Amino acid sequence: MNPKIPIILDGDPGHDDAIAWMLAKASPQLEIRACTSVCGNQTIEKTSYNARRVMTLLGIDAPFAMGRSNPLVGQPMVAPTVHGESGLDGPALPEPKIEPQPISAVELIARTLTESTEPVTLVPTGPLTNIGALLLLYPELKRKIAGISLMGGGVAHGNWTPAAEFNILVDPEAADVVFKSGLPITMAGLDVTNKALVFPEDFERIRALNNPVAAVVAEWLDFFYGFHRSLGYPGAPVHDAVAVAALVRPEILTIKEYYVQIETKGEFCRGATVADHWGFTGKAPNARVILGINREGFIDLLAEAAAWYGREEA
Ligand code: RIB
Ligand code: CA
Repeated sequence: MNPKIPIILDGDPGHDDAIAWMLAKASPQLEIRACTSVCGNQTIEKTSYNARRVMTLLGIDAPFAMGRSNPLVGQPMVAPTVHGESGLDGPALPEPKIEPQPISAVELIARTLTESTEPVTLVPTGPLTNIGALLLLYPELKRKIAGISLMGGGVAHGNWTPAAEFNILVDPEAADVVFKSGLPITMAGLDVTNKALVFPEDFERIRALNNPVAAVVAEWLDFFYGFHRSLGYPGAPVHDAVAVAALVRPEILTIKEYYVQIETKGEFCRGATVADHWGFTGKAPNARVILGINREGFIDLLAEAAAWYGREEA
């Protein structure tokens, strides 16, 4: 068997972050070295509490640290209409058994990279605040980062403004640092994540697995679909799980390389991920942009992961 891929999960749980973390923990190809929170779907206090509860539910045995309370520039935005006041409304979750490390998320990521004997893959599924700050504060650690598989952006349109996707919009300055870093980036943007739809019949397939984690995942999907159903979606777009799927089952994805720039100004387009489709800039691509997904293969992946929690080894 190939050596495990060491990863750090950085997110703003968030229903789809939680499902992404469920997939990561159940994937034998991955080794979770650390988890960190970022302000995004809710305040840093709420996303941190949610992260620790999700880690407890999933049995993720790794250090956790809290991120910054604000983006690099500007004020936090939160998304209670999507994820609820708690940031993870819906099923009851266990109280956290994991205490935060007495250091910041950036310091935990830096410590984890420093101590690792091999480069680590970063999997941010919220605003890129922690990752941008890490690259600004510890540029020498870029050599310990194997790559970044992120959920964010969209080369065709946004979901929080006409031009910008939420994660990038919350902290465009951080995203700009990341996309200019020269590190290998796989971008799971709205181009693919709006196709990563989990239909209500898929919720029932997962619920029928009849283990405690699968039951919670089905309830997360029930809640998360509520907002999207009101917009006319036929299913729940589980955005963040695609960033993990890119590491464990890339064959279900269609990917194209683009040079992507982040708009940090602009009256209408701040937070846009501007892809150079036709090579106008003459710049080499800096991101592998995921454009398509085999939806059935994605559902199978999620169902296999949820089923894993019903096995002895979980
Ligand atoms: O735009 C979708 C992204 O914003 C997802 O990561 C979701 O969790 C929210 O953070
Ligand atoms: Ca998220």
